[in-house]
Parts: sequence; C-alpha cells; structure tokens
Amino acid sequence: MSPYYFYILAVLKFSAVFSVDTVDKRALQPSHEKSQQEKWVDAFLTKNQGDHQVDLVRLLKQITKSYLSDCTPIILFDTFTEKNDNLLLEKLLTNFPTAYVHGQITEDYQVLLKISTDKIQPSCVSYLLFMKDVMKSKDVIGVQSSNKVLVIARSSQWRVFEFLSNEESRYFVNLLVIVQSERMMTTNQEAPYILYTHKLYTDALGSSKPIVLSSFQEGNLTRKVDLFPAKLSGGFSGHRFIVSMSHQPPFVISMGRTAEGEKIFEGIEIRLVDLLSKMYNFTTDYREATEDSQVGSTEAVTRTVEKKKANIGIGGIYATPEKISRMGLTTWHSRDCASFISLASTALPR
Ligand SMILES: *[C@@H]1O[C@H](CO)[C@@H](O)[C@H](O)[C@H]1NC(C)=O
Ligand SMILES: *[C@@H]1O[C@H](CO)[C@@H](O)[C@H](O)[C@H]1NC(C)=O
Repeated sequence: MSPYYFYILAVLKFSAVFSVDTVDKRALQPSHEKSQQEKWVDAFLTKNQGDHQVDLVRLLKQITKSYLSDCTPIILFDTFTEKNDNLLLEKLLTNFPTAYVHGQITEDYQVLLKISTDKIQPSCVSYLLFMKDVMKSKDVIGVQSSNKVLVIARSSQWRVFEFLSNEESRYFVNLLVIVQSERMMTTNQEAPYILYTHKLYTDALGSSKPIVLSSFQEGNLTRKVDLFPAKLSGGFSGHRFIVSMSHQPPFVISMGRTAEGEKIFEGIEIRLVDLLSKMYNFTTDYREATEDSQVGSTEAVTRTVEKKKANIGIGGIYATPEKISRMGLTTWHSRDCASFISLASTALPR
C-alpha cells in the first residue's frame, strides 16, 4: 500500500499578470555616459569602502541568532561585495553564531556554493544575500514562499525602495532588506542601517509597498519589533486569481452546460477555493485547462500554472517529488491508497 496525497497547486508568483512598469531608466542615457544617479551611487559606494562596518556585522549576527538559526543559513555574496568588502565577510564569518553554508554569486547571477548542494535540505534554509543590485535577488535564489530571505543591499536607499514596491520583491514572502542610511556622519561613526520589509497585496492590483521596521545605530535597534512579521494575514485585498482546473471527480466535476452553453463545474476543491477566497479576500476566475492530447488533464493544469497563465491549479493533483520541485504546493487534503494483487507465483514489478 502506498499513500498519495492530493494538493491544490499554488504558485507564489500571483503577480505575473499585473506587471509593474519597469522601464529601465538607464536605457535613456547614451551608453558611454553614466547617469547622474549612477555617478551618485558610485560615489556613495566608494565612500563606504574601508569602513569597518562593525555595526553591520553585529547586526547580522544578532538577526541570525534570533531569526535564522532554525534553518541552515546560506550566505551569498556578489563579486562587488567580494572585491570591496572582503574584510566585512571575513569578520562576519568569524564566529558566525550557527553552522552555515557560503558561496559566491557570479556576474551572471549563478550561485557557486562552497559545498555540494545535496548536503543541504532545500526546504529549510535561510538566505543572506549581499547584493549590489537588489533587483537581481530573484535571479539568484528564485521564488521563496517560506524561507527567510535577508538582503544586505549594497545600493542606495531609493533603489531598495524601488525594489520593495516592485514586482521583483514579491517573489519573496519573508523578506528583510538592510541598507545603510545615506546620512553623512560627521564623526567616525558608522551611518545607521535601515531595516525594511514589504506589505504584500495592498490593493486589488496586487501592489506591494515598503515598510520601515526599525533602524540600527551604535549597536541598538531603535524599535524592537518582529523583523520577520507574519505576511498576508490581512488577505489579498480582493485580488483576482485565475484558477486552472480539469474534470477530476470528486475534486472538480464537469456538470454539463448552462442554457447559454457555459460549462458548469462543481467539486470539493472548487468549494475549498471558494472558502479560501472568502477567508483571504480574493476573487476567482475559473478556467478549464485547455486539453492537450499529448498530456493528461492534470498535467495540463500543472503546465498552465507553470507557464504563469494561471495563479492556482486544482483537480485531484498528486503530490510527487517532481511536482514539489516544479512549484509551490498547499498542504495536502486527501489521501489515496492503492493495493495490488497478484498470483503468488508472479512477483510484482517494483
Ligand atoms: C544601546 O543599548 C545599551 C544597552 O541596552 C545602552 O547602554 C546604550 O546606551 C545604547 N546605545 C544607544 C546609542 O542608544
Ligand atoms: C477586501 O479587499 C477590499 C479591497 O482592498 C476591501 O475594500 C474590503 O474591505 C476587503 N474585504 C474584507 C472582508 O476584508
């Protein structure tokens, strides 16, 4: 007997259908000339070179101890950080409060880990990313719907603000971004660090907005708050999700057509999604997965979600390791058992 579990597919990337205007401002500049903003960023970054950044190291160790030690932290730094902040990394990794894995982010945003990946349990890790360009964070670690993600931004505050309002940060739910304040310090002091997160689904369009959690100065957080607050507890502000489905009784049942010729669907999973939509304040748009003769109907649903043509997939979907690696799954709701009988003389194939 082997149990199978049914899940409702859910991709975190609900925002796919509503992309935010992301015109690259730099595209307007002649390529040989740096924009004012870029020059300013360069100046800001050089100013930080040689800083001791004792406070930052202390802050990161505190956060690791309080929030990240239940899962293996993976520390990743881009080539910029490696070149300019070698001392910072060295200090951080010395007496790091828990066992960790570290690695490099290459120029084309690939990850080079210092150990083989099969030693890590991917379902329980946390990330510390040192990024010059925060917007590329998703290229590095992909969608993260439950793992904690801490981005140490080596860019300006306005860029972090842009990131947190932008679609690019919605790939992460438990996100904390640390950036050094642009305040010029008169003394040798380190400028304060600002700790940000985002509020997800603030309106029906699925927008998010930056939130200041606290700041860190001279070894203290100015506000003692939860740095990884629960997200989406207020629901989705009426956002519309496209639900892909296929006839798969008793989960999704095709019930014939209305007088107008529209197909009618019923079933356990439709009721579940309707219930969830009331609890979490979202609206639904059910669509039958277009039949593809090459694949089964469940696979058609899976592919629709994977291609981001739907946000949610239903219809008696089995949880297989392969599906788990392809997309986000909800908690299972039913169990299916199968037994096989054969003649004693015939061994069952494995
Ligand atoms: C930071 O906290 C410590 C201990 O709570 C306190 O002694 C110190 O004065 C604080 N520093 C600042 C700058 O608030
Ligand atoms: C659902 O979201 C809409 C849009 O933000 C809001 O006006 C409405 O009050 C919310 N409903 C509930 C029950 O929270």
